[in-house]
Amino acid sequence: MTLPKVRKAVFPAAGLGTRFLPATKAQPKEMLPVVDKPLIQYGVEEARHSGIHNIIIVTGRGKASIEDHFDVSFELEHLLESKNRADMLSMVRAISDIVDVSYVRQKEALGLGHAVHRAKELVGHEPFAVVLSDDIIASQTPCIRQLLDVHEFYGASVLALMEVPKDQISAYGVVDAELVADNGRENRLFRIRNLVEKPKAADAPSNLAIIGRYVLTPEIFAAVEAIQPGSGGEIQLTDALKYMLRNRPIYGLKFEGKRFDAGDKLGFLKATVEFALNRHDLGKDFREYLRTICAQS
Ligand code: UTP
Repeated sequence: MTLPKVRKAVFPAAGLGTRFLPATKAQPKEMLPVVDKPLIQYGVEEARHSGIHNIIIVTGRGKASIEDHFDVSFELEHLLESKNRADMLSMVRAISDIVDVSYVRQKEALGLGHAVHRAKELVGHEPFAVVLSDDIIASQTPCIRQLLDVHEFYGASVLALMEVPKDQISAYGVVDAELVADNGRENRLFRIRNLVEKPKAADAPSNLAIIGRYVLTPEIFAAVEAIQPGSGGEIQLTDALKYMLRNRPIYGLKFEGKRFDAGDKLGFLKATVEFALNRHDLGKDFREYLRTICAQS
């Protein structure tokens, strides 16, 4: 049997972003720029570089600037054209040209599982990726591509995993998992036995946390419909995955790369510094500047 190709990626972007107040009072967290690019654009580019061109963004109130960002900006294009700024023009055009974007609304932030379920009609009965754009990942091979490679072999859902120190584990969904002998991915591929959302450190089944990249089979929608609100009174994606595990295998991959939690102030600052240092147009001067302030302190 040939597996359906993963063509679509769902971007839940209807959360309230309380960790980033007051910046997120009137603007979406997903539009905060790391260096000069909104968080969500990093995720969209990762999806595109993984071979996915169909983007579904789950939005809520106050998120209109996300739609404007991926739309054509006639006035800006006209202005750049008249000023002969071909470099900027092609950068601006690329944003609206690169992908096919559709939107669906989550009227109330009832949880990540609920947000993903809002995309049910647009996804249809096929496997799809989920990208949480406040996780930005720097890697050789895009993280979604790494998950797709596992999905294409096993035909099952795959979660991106990361080792997290014990004192931080209760901020994550955590898995109980057994290693799968896989020559290509030495000690990085797991078969999931159980999942717990935000456990107390003492109750965490491992130090392997789920981060914001998933490839899911469409059975996840029925699983979300079957569960009750969980941690924080929200409909949790982790709980739906646990439900789905009853009759579907789920794999976890310790991805290769570095993940920044840009939905958190410190994580956002770290991402900004590292991405700026790696920029060919800014890195040298920025490194020099950091050296001078380090020498002063
Ligand atoms: P977070 O857990 O980061 O929640 O959601 P949040 O509301 O965005 O931010 P904080 O914790 O209050 O600071 C992870 C992802 O899931 C989306 C968010 O937009 C974010 O991309 N999400 C979460 C929804 O789309 N809907 C929800 O009901 C909850």
